[in-house]
Amino acid sequence: MEQYTNRLKEAAGKAAVDDMVKSGMKLGLGTGSTAIHAVRRVGELLTQGLLRDIVAFATSFQTEIECEKLKIPFFTLNSQELTSGLDLTIDGADEVDMQNRLIKGGGGAMLIEKLAAYSSLAYIITVDESKLTEQLGIGFPVPVEVIPAARVQVTRALEKIGAVVILRGAIQKAGPVITEHGNLILDISFGPNKPIDPSFLETELNQIPGVVENGFFTRKPPVVYIARSNGTIETRLTPGL
Ligand code: A5P
Repeated sequence: MEQYTNRLKEAAGKAAVDDMVKSGMKLGLGTGSTAIHAVRRVGELLTQGLLRDIVAFATSFQTEIECEKLKIPFFTLNSQELTSGLDLTIDGADEVDMQNRLIKGGGGAMLIEKLAAYSSLAYIITVDESKLTEQLGIGFPVPVEVIPAARVQVTRALEKIGAVVILRGAIQKAGPVITEHGNLILDISFGPNKPIDPSFLETELNQIPGVVENGFFTRKPPVVYIARSNGTIETRLTPGL
């Protein structure tokens, strides 16, 4: 099953790169088991000489390391190479609703992923069809990155608005996950009987002192590449665009 899903992820990543990436682009490269396929396809096309002069921004250590391996040149968003912003960002998502709003951050990288998404002219999300949902936040919790000093206060504030809050635990390390920015992640869910407004919450959660960023992505309408189990790739534009 895992191998099958991986094939779908690979198909979505490859299709997005083949359709959308052009030589000379400033490219945001996402994080996770789907985005990595897009990164690999960019590397492959560069090696084959079918793409040239790509300048990348990597959204995590995972992506940086992959870029190093594949010899994809990458820079920070503060560098001269990228101060004008990104032409295109390609990433994955944990959930995508009917309006192409997203939950991201299953891999803990949503802070920099959002920086890339919101600094990009165009935004592509690549998913297998299992990521589609009618309502965000029921099947997958929303990650909230908090500074360590605010853990308890932010937890209380989130519980007050009806969230169930779980401090994300690390695997192969005792204690919590520490993000690439030295912060903690609170995974929050609201349950099926409490309808939520993702666009409102994206703004509101960040008003709680100590919150750095949250995993709702509602303000950058993506084109979503969906790998279907029947072998086709559907591209879904954001409604209203
Ligand atoms: C990383 O923090 C995330 O936002 C990923 O983009 C998201 O979790 C999707 O990851 P997978 O493609 O591994 O499911």
